[in-house]
Amino acid sequence: MSAAHPPDRIPDDVVQLVAQARRPVVLTGAGISAESGVPTFREVQTGLWERFSAQDLASVEAFEADPALVWTWYRWRQSLIRAVEPNPGHIAIAEWQQLPGVGLTLSTQNVDDLHERAGASVLAHLHGSIFAHRCFSCDEPVELPDADYDGFQSPPAAQPPPTCGACDGPVRPGVVWFGEMLPTEAFEQTAAAVRAADLVLVAGTSGIVQPAASLPLLALERGTPLIEVNPEETELSELMDHCVRGPSGEVLPKLLRG
Ligand code: OAD
Repeated sequence: MSAAHPPDRIPDDVVQLVAQARRPVVLTGAGISAESGVPTFREVQTGLWERFSAQDLASVEAFEADPALVWTWYRWRQSLIRAVEPNPGHIAIAEWQQLPGVGLTLSTQNVDDLHERAGASVLAHLHGSIFAHRCFSCDEPVELPDADYDGFQSPPAAQPPPTCGACDGPVRPGVVWFGEMLPTEAFEQTAAAVRAADLVLVAGTSGIVQPAASLPLLALERGTPLIEVNPEETELSELMDHCVRGPSGEVLPKLLRG
């Protein structure tokens, strides 16, 4: 059973768990980038996109039904991500990873690059990268310049995806869509790190999307301490030893600096 703590009253034993960890694993989701200005998946979209939830757009079926709509949504989201900066949560994790004697493994469900831009090394992007593109038909990687959209302004009109130079198929974003397999190596390496961890910290994920949400269970089986950082209760909260109920940009620097 987990204990929930407000961000201004993090108990010393939770701070100690973090300070003493030598092989921590940090698992992050969309919430870690929320304070940078990247909307999470279950937040209501605005403007023209109001009618299209991320859930509805992130699938093979959606791309087949309306490639221009899905392609433009991802290109618009890329522009937004390029325009924002890592927040104190990303920076705290990067600093933790750089501490002498700490072998911190970081795996994220996020397709953005904000952990890397904060200076962290990411073992696995479990759901791929929004900046990688490949052919929908033949899987050939495709390099493209950044989209020229304003991620903060009204969404652009839908444009069809470019076509692949090798087979003429439509180009798709290099993310994992609902119903698709996660990259096996990324998942297995993260699972191995969780099994070997002496602390697992889960930040900014609703714990709804499988199989990523099953990773903390591997720690539970071994009795490894689990800490959640999230302003809301989640599907994973029950499994946790400690939940710190606050935004990661506020909580993580406090957790790490005591
Ligand atoms: P979700 O959008 O499902 O959940 C975001 C979580 O972040 C929620 O639990 C929020 O309470 C929490 N949150 C919001 N603001 C926060 C803050 N400032 N600090 C910390 N936490 C905060 O995002 P994910 O769990 O990452 O998959 O979603 C998992 C997957 O669902 C995504 O990778 C994507 C999506 O559909 C695919 O596209 C396959």
